[in-house]
Amino acid sequence: MLDKISALQQEIETATASSIDEVEALRIKYISKKGKVNQLFADFKNVPNEQKKEVGKALNELKNCALEKINTLRDSFETKGSEDAGTDLTMPGEPLKLGSRHPLSLVKNEIISIFGRLGFTVAEGPEIEDDWHVFSALNFPPEHPARDMQDTFFIEKDPDVLLRTHTSSVQTRVMEHTQPPIRSIFPGRVFRNEAISARSHCIFHQIEGLYVDENVSFADLKQTLLYFSKELFGENTKIRLRPSYFPFTEPSAEMDVSCSICGGKGCNVCKYTGWLEILGCGMVDPNVLESCKIDSQKYTGFAFGMGIERITMLRYGIKDIRHFFENDIRFLKQFESAI
Ligand code: DAH
Repeated sequence: MLDKISALQQEIETATASSIDEVEALRIKYISKKGKVNQLFADFKNVPNEQKKEVGKALNELKNCALEKINTLRDSFETKGSEDAGTDLTMPGEPLKLGSRHPLSLVKNEIISIFGRLGFTVAEGPEIEDDWHVFSALNFPPEHPARDMQDTFFIEKDPDVLLRTHTSSVQTRVMEHTQPPIRSIFPGRVFRNEAISARSHCIFHQIEGLYVDENVSFADLKQTLLYFSKELFGENTKIRLRPSYFPFTEPSAEMDVSCSICGGKGCNVCKYTGWLEILGCGMVDPNVLESCKIDSQKYTGFAFGMGIERITMLRYGIKDIRHFFENDIRFLKQFESAI
């Protein structure tokens, strides 16, 4: 009996398998109910009593040895199998997901770059402002409706602490501290107490431009804006200036560009006029220059201001301003390739 056991043990130890199916066949052959190991266990009853202890021990060892062998063979195929199917070590790693620039930043940077080519530098000012920089220095009369609660967010009871309603406040700050020539643009966030809808928001972005020097004329303003519009919307873009009113410029105008969507033929974006209004502008009012201690006899200047949201919406055909502030990845992802 002991000889049979050791012969079977040797057989099992040297067994090999070249597939998981062969391992299963070995399992059936050796350790299933009718397998060779169990057959020996069945013979155990015939072993004489004095040998039972020794034979029993040997049988148990044989069983453990067989179980271990089958498990080892099976493990070798299972790990091999998963490596083959799942891990190709020659494959490049999964790339990290990169963020992309926000469409407002893309357009802002493009505008900065266009004016940069004309020699305009960039300056910024605070979002929390006082009445002087936002209104008084810019020639807003004391009763002007823009100062009203309806438009302006006041931070404290003190009406002199407010969120700027336009980036024109940075004009005041720059002119207070710099003598001409001044040629700068001022991008930034502005705040107005307006109902949120598809077309307007209480937070939005503007870019303000200011050019003050000797002999700056309306012709310079017009040519600068024409260059800007062609660079931003394409070589065939036309502009038109309509008379308007702003307290800080005289004369003042609003500028339209020919509709970049229908090329001026008329569509629902330009409301079938062929024109899109994109900015306000004008010659800096001498009162504003004087408020900022700039000699209005010697210097003249022009200024303009535009909303970045509006231009971005036109540029990319975005229909609802609220998309810009919702951080919806499905919206933002669309601008990945625009970097
Ligand atoms: N500040 C104006 C606004 O928020 C835009 C503007 C119009 C700025 C005319 C200017 C300008 O500098 O000359 O609506």
